[in-house]
Amino acid sequence: MSEIDDALREWLPSQRWYGGKGKAVSSVRVAHEERLPVGEAGDLDLRHTLLEVTDADGARETYQLLLGYRDGDLEGRLEPGLVGEVKGSSVYDAVHDPDAVTGLLELLAQNRSLSRVAFRSTGALDTTLPPRVMGAEQSNTSVVFGDAYILKLFRRVQQGTNPDLEVTRALADAGCEHVAAPLGWVEGDVSGTITTLAMLQAFEADLHADEVGGDFAAESERLGAATAEVHALLAQVLPSGTAGPDESQATARQLVERLDRAVEAVPELAPHVDAVRAVYAQVAERTDPVPVQRVHGDYHLGQVLRTQRGWVLLDFEGEPARPLAERTALMSPLRDVAGMLRSYDYAARHLLAERREVGAGVPQLAYRAAEWAARNRDAFCDGYATAGGSDPREEPLLLRAFELDKAVYEVVYEARNRPSWLPIPLGSIERLLSDPKGEQ
Ligand SMILES: Nc1ncnc2c1ncn2[C@@H]1O[C@H](COP(=O)(O)OP(=O)(O)O)[C@@H](O)[C@H]1O
Ligand SMILES: [Mg+2]
Repeated sequence: MSEIDDALREWLPSQRWYGGKGKAVSSVRVAHEERLPVGEAGDLDLRHTLLEVTDADGARETYQLLLGYRDGDLEGRLEPGLVGEVKGSSVYDAVHDPDAVTGLLELLAQNRSLSRVAFRSTGALDTTLPPRVMGAEQSNTSVVFGDAYILKLFRRVQQGTNPDLEVTRALADAGCEHVAAPLGWVEGDVSGTITTLAMLQAFEADLHADEVGGDFAAESERLGAATAEVHALLAQVLPSGTAGPDESQATARQLVERLDRAVEAVPELAPHVDAVRAVYAQVAERTDPVPVQRVHGDYHLGQVLRTQRGWVLLDFEGEPARPLAERTALMSPLRDVAGMLRSYDYAARHLLAERREVGAGVPQLAYRAAEWAARNRDAFCDGYATAGGSDPREEPLLLRAFELDKAVYEVVYEARNRPSWLPIPLGSIERLLSDPKGEQ
């Protein structure tokens, strides 16, 4: 193993976007490296890098890195990205380097094609805007230029077109007002397949839904309407269809598999498994047709922005940990509705999870939180139904099954990443099982 491989193997597991949390990296290999023509004085050696990572279980993933090499020590502002020292050079994650990311924007503006990587833009770009890396917890890394553009570098790379780019472009081309305009992308040859590596979009300035105070119900209703409009457009411009009893059984099997895997990882789920399985068994017995289509796939309040011109939906990538074929499969749009409804629960309850020490006031707060969630969940469904989607509450079984599936996913996520929040999805599973209509 070379020195840089060794340094990367140490560095990778500590990165927020690294998917193999909790598992040791057994080996890394630079699968492809291409020097990017950026920087004037030539003091920056910037290399687009695809890294093949094998974890302790033998699972192999490809990650994308933008590695900077500079002679000697790094300037202080670049230090947070330091990967290691190799042959007298400092090697670092260059997303933190304004020269490097401005260089990317220039390559996009020039529509440059290099030997294995191509930069594409759909119009003129202002390359003088100052870049900053988004601080948010993300599965990818985004750089904002001025307040005009946002460049998302996909970290874990799966061969093919990334659904975020595919879906955002399809919606924008169809005139959808609820997406941020795509402005360009980076693609590359990954083992013979043209693969999306990054996406440039218009930056939309506004607050996150869960940062907005006051009575949120009117906003929820508009969000429900925007969601229904996006679903209708997706069904129109991308494939859609109808699922019969066989597919209902397949869906139920998939839900059960996910439950089984989750309970292996998180024993706290065990007491609920039988009851959750009983709900999934009802899905398997379903014989009515279910409309299916392309969906968002990882829909929650952190994936939408409230802007001056209304709600904007972001990040059509689906759940990044799942295989691409699963993420682009046709499914019921109720999956997205379930995701958003779960999210209202989270928005209401995470404050309580952090205020457990308050003691006496907690029952009252818990009541208020449940009331807020129920009111906003209803408003969302009202908006969804009014804007032409069918009322999600008229499909209580599917909705409950998909909410349970989301909550099971959250249980695994929290157990791995934020154990103190584990009671939120566990509590929701209990509530979903005890109160079929989810109105408590
Ligand atoms: N077009 C945009 N305009 C403004 N902010 C954005 C835009 N796209 C993403 N963001 C911000 O970046 C965050 C993460 O973006 P997202 O596309 O969800 O990336 P990830 O795949 O890493 O989850 C969003 O929650 C939002 O705060
Ligand atoms: Mg996201």
